[in-house]
Amino acid sequence: MSRSTAPSDALVLFGATGDLAYKKIFPALQALVRAGELNMPVIGVARAGWTLDQLRERIRDSLEHAGQIDETAFSKLAAQLRYVDGDYQDPQTFKRLKQALGDVSRPLHYLAIPPSLFAVVVQSLGSSGCASNARVVVEKPFGRDLTSARALNKALHAVFAEDAVFRIDHYLGKEAVRNLLFFRFANAFLEPVWNRDHVDNIQITLAEHFGIQGRGSFYDGVGAIRDVIQNHMLEVVALLAMDAPVGDDAEAIHAEKLRLFRAMRPLQPGNVVRGQFRGYGDEEGVAKGSNVETFAALKLEIDTWRWAGVPFYLRAGKRLPITATQVMVDLKSPPLAIFKQDQPEGMQLAHGNYFRFRLSPEVVIATGARVKRAGEAMRGEDVELIARHQQASDAPYERLLGDALSGDATLFTHAEAVEEAWRVVGPVLDLPQPVESYAPGSWGPDDAGKLVSGVGGWHDPKPERSTPC
Ligand code: BG6
Repeated sequence: MSRSTAPSDALVLFGATGDLAYKKIFPALQALVRAGELNMPVIGVARAGWTLDQLRERIRDSLEHAGQIDETAFSKLAAQLRYVDGDYQDPQTFKRLKQALGDVSRPLHYLAIPPSLFAVVVQSLGSSGCASNARVVVEKPFGRDLTSARALNKALHAVFAEDAVFRIDHYLGKEAVRNLLFFRFANAFLEPVWNRDHVDNIQITLAEHFGIQGRGSFYDGVGAIRDVIQNHMLEVVALLAMDAPVGDDAEAIHAEKLRLFRAMRPLQPGNVVRGQFRGYGDEEGVAKGSNVETFAALKLEIDTWRWAGVPFYLRAGKRLPITATQVMVDLKSPPLAIFKQDQPEGMQLAHGNYFRFRLSPEVVIATGARVKRAGEAMRGEDVELIARHQQASDAPYERLLGDALSGDATLFTHAEAVEEAWRVVGPVLDLPQPVESYAPGSWGPDDAGKLVSGVGGWHDPKPERSTPC
């Protein structure tokens, strides 16, 4: 078995006492134990001066807090747990880790630590011998621009081969995002219309009703473009717009996605509207007079035969009216208005033809059509045909961690694709123009509407009807 497919035989968690581990990773670990997919040592590493018992208590607390404690699975996990305490700058920490690994031969190192520490940890994993036959999982943010992402890739590749590096973008582990890929390429009816001849424009909205949730000091160094557009949203664009992969393996999917990323034009400052919700400046950890955007709306262009001339409009923001992520693929109008009663002269042709993908919090795949209203008049109304509507019972971290342990890189991002995504957003990072302010609970600054005035405005995601089918 090659290194890329042999399952890992230990999980090493750097940042074991941190926030990410507490909120996302511990529940995923318990779920993997319950599913019988984590029968191996789990070694927490941190520089907190803790004991193994303290780490066990922290895990229990995390699971209780999430309302997910399962005593049997937790006891099993607690028994598999080990702990190495030490500074990441200190080679002794890695010596102790090597000892703790014992006869483990293919560890998976999960770096749930600030990006500023990635390089030093990776280097020490290499020099201590902990990296041989190992894999490494790195969390986003992967760099803060093209230069830093390249430097990070270089540091990783000095110790790990690319097929041993698993960059997490948790959006890729979401059920709805996986269904986007599936729906596109498991059906033949989509392909003839999925191009510039039939698609008028594509809109993606990642709206969050909540604000920055006490993450001021992190968020203020990042902003919406770095936080969710460079990664989650461009990944969704890639899945929507890529050509059919030659198979469902990681290599085939990465290859097609990369071709698509390469065809994305760098964003133009004139095609980007940035906003900041009123009150952001008073949040803890936010710099006085901060120019960081909590909202961004933009137009993206893709230079492929399939998409030339089709605008992709992306919008993301905090403190918007709803929490929902949605894709709308607007199809072109019929060429003629046949039904005069339906389309009084001078009025824009109503057509209502679209594909809608709700990615979060529900999973919805639907298509819009126009049908005749009952009665004498040949008048129409918009209806929606629903192919899938379910509440997402999503566990992206469990899925991604399980995949990384078994060496399946399909749902992870690739070095070149991440760099391409930074190339695309590069020209609009840290713009000197002031951000426009918007009222919390609104759809962002008015100028965002101007971006889409030529296509009839934004499709604002609405609460889903509750009847799943
Ligand atoms: C994270 C961002 O990557 O994604 C957050 O840092 C954002 O700011 C989150 O809220 C959105 O993902 P999800 O899965 O919570 O919708």
